[in-house]
Amino acid sequence: MDTRYVTIDPAQAGREDCEELREASRILQAGGLVAFPTETVYGLGGNALDADASRKIYAAKGRPSDNPLIIHIAETEQVKEIAVHITEKAEQLMDVFWPGPLTLIFRKKELVPDSTTGGLKTVAVRMPSHPVAYELISRSGIMIAAPSANSSGRPSPTCAAHVREDLDGKIDMLIDGGACKYGIESTIVDMTGEVPTILRPGYITKEMLEEVIGPVAYDEALSDPSAPPKAPGMKYTHYAPKGELTIVEAGDGASEQDVICRINQLAEERRQQGYRTGILATAKNAVYYRADEVLTLGEREDEWMISANLYRCLRDFDERGVEYIYSESFRSEGLGRAIMNRLLKAAGHRVLLV
Ligand code: TXA
Ligand code: MG
Repeated sequence: MDTRYVTIDPAQAGREDCEELREASRILQAGGLVAFPTETVYGLGGNALDADASRKIYAAKGRPSDNPLIIHIAETEQVKEIAVHITEKAEQLMDVFWPGPLTLIFRKKELVPDSTTGGLKTVAVRMPSHPVAYELISRSGIMIAAPSANSSGRPSPTCAAHVREDLDGKIDMLIDGGACKYGIESTIVDMTGEVPTILRPGYITKEMLEEVIGPVAYDEALSDPSAPPKAPGMKYTHYAPKGELTIVEAGDGASEQDVICRINQLAEERRQQGYRTGILATAKNAVYYRADEVLTLGEREDEWMISANLYRCLRDFDERGVEYIYSESFRSEGLGRAIMNRLLKAAGHRVLLV
């Protein structure tokens, strides 16, 4: 199939006469696939209520069919069409954080095909804040099932070029709406149990949620890699670059300087063996590193910048043929928790304590 490429300036997405959005809507209505920007990562969209469309999504991504999709909506009322038992706490979270990078899990209505939810009786719902995503959902009149628009196992795409690398020729259309603001996927909260539970950390942190609804738990699989995760997708080696990634962390008594020295030593050993090496660094330390490719995530204090750059850096290492990557570690609170969650998965939990 030929993939059609179009560009929509997010600031112009609201224009009535946007021909590209009209065309994208027609493709979705006819059961086709359109990749589009959201504020987190690019999504690969199809009609959420059309079992064939969701099967096409799994095929294009090469994704295991037991891994459910998130349904993207444009109006809060739409959640009632697909979900039941919407609690008061859920209503409060929707009020405060939608549209935005928060996905909520509810019991599903019959209407939602099993192929969209990977056979689960629950459904994940999110209302994105990106203007292109919003316009696409509301103009097409379709609730859009959209996983991240990468091939299964690769880092999620944070710009249109990443989607093109992975899905060219496999989807009907790609809308380029520029780089994604947050760069990591939405926070997922399961609202079906007694205590709302975070299944995937993201920009909306536990602290932010608790300020609105009181106690929130973390799925225990987030801290114990051997426990089965409640979000099926979290069990797959995900986000992985092609090179072998190791996180180097300061243990008791070790300094930042010790970490830098150790990373340089590890990279040098691999270089001597003839491999291409890469280092994932914070801005302040980047000048001290020696490797074939040293990529800077941003200032350690600017976690938003770090999350926005993470997947792009992992893809850049791939593109530059890097075989061994060493990364600094990050704090595990606030947004740092989401950054470390993705980094640990990309590293297959390979952590070296100095
Ligand atoms: O930010 C995002 O959420 C992006 C953009 C495109 O919206 N989407 C995204 O989708 O990250 P995906 O498919 O790459 O990740 C969805 C995650 C998977 O880990 C999946 O297992 C989990 O959500 N999930 C979906 N439905 C679920 C359900 N009913 N119960 C538990 N986990 C669910
Ligand atoms: Mg994904």
